Amino acid sequence: MKPIEIKKDIYSVGVIDWNVRNFHGHTYSTARGSTYNSYLIIDEKIAIVDTALGSFSKEFIERIREVIPPEKIDYVIANHVETDHSGAMPYLMKLCPKAKVYCTQKCKEGLYKNYYENWDFNIVKTGDQLKLGKRTLTFIEAPMIHWPDSMFTYCQEEELLMPNDAFGQHYATSERFDDEVDQCALMDEAAKYYGNILWPLSSLIARKIEEIVKMKIPIKMIAPSHGIVWRKDPMKIINSYVKWAKNETKPKVVIVYETMWGATDKMARKIAEGIMDAGLDVKIFNIAESDSTEVVKEMLEAKGFIIGSSTHDNDMLTSLAGFLEFLKGLKPKNRIAAAFGSYGWAGGAVASIEKALKEGGIEVVQPGIGVKYVPDENELKNIYQFGKDFAGKIK
Ligand code: FEO
Repeated sequence: MKPIEIKKDIYSVGVIDWNVRNFHGHTYSTARGSTYNSYLIIDEKIAIVDTALGSFSKEFIERIREVIPPEKIDYVIANHVETDHSGAMPYLMKLCPKAKVYCTQKCKEGLYKNYYENWDFNIVKTGDQLKLGKRTLTFIEAPMIHWPDSMFTYCQEEELLMPNDAFGQHYATSERFDDEVDQCALMDEAAKYYGNILWPLSSLIARKIEEIVKMKIPIKMIAPSHGIVWRKDPMKIINSYVKWAKNETKPKVVIVYETMWGATDKMARKIAEGIMDAGLDVKIFNIAESDSTEVVKEMLEAKGFIIGSSTHDNDMLTSLAGFLEFLKGLKPKNRIAAAFGSYGWAGGAVASIEKALKEGGIEVVQPGIGVKYVPDENELKNIYQFGKDFAGKIK
């Protein structure tokens, strides 16, 4: 990939990671790969915003070299300590050891604890500026979006926001801009990113967007550190973030379950029939066979969750238990739920699921439904009605 000039004298010099399939230690599946974006700004002073994953250091440096010798870099802006953005920093800093590093206090602490290098750190706070020549960079702290050290960098002359992880997508493409890629795939990856990484931080995100609106900074382009650059319609992703941060939902139900011998699967399908016949969108996932990153993406805008499991040792099955633990951590708000499942001699899964849902702040709106062994015709009618009743609570 050649460096791409996203604005006059501002180059995207990051790398495309076509083959990464798991991120954050297998908590996030990246079926479409990812990119680690870095932006090189050529002015009277030369600045680079973020670097790349360490294993791509050589490729990253070669790309910078296609624009300028990296030795000429004056300022390294570290928006975020996480190693997918700072991993190539030690390699880069060896080439420009006198470059000043601009970052938040927490980022400095994190960089030191990762690399044990005493670089020329310059700590910045919201509103601090760095003049490059014709352009000035303004820093905006963004703690917990999504780490304590996170910050955004804004170039006022170009109306360009470089918000690091925010507004990003794990999406490896040969294209670099929003208007060049498939819109469904783009928004699918943006939603997946928000759901799996940023969802629990929604109240902070809502406040940060409000703060940026109050700062009255015009934004013509958003260049995140993963995926494509929003140049045609940056408001599209800002508006989506506003909606997701408010936990706005659609009349949609996601059924997530785990089954031992198929009876709970049968129940899930019958519940889905009831929901479909009530005219609602429904998605079903056997969690033991599904990609949980995709399941969370589907849950991001769904009003209702129906969760089921066969009973095993008086409890739910283990893949579902792990998924519910993850879901609790995502802190979904404004959702309703119900539980179901088949059992042999003593139940337990339905009660355990309801307990986990309540602990996650999710409202259980109707009594769970359990069936001994395999549902018969009458029981299937009740299960169908269970789905219809749930749909009625969403409409
Ligand atoms: Fe893309 Fe928080 O790192």
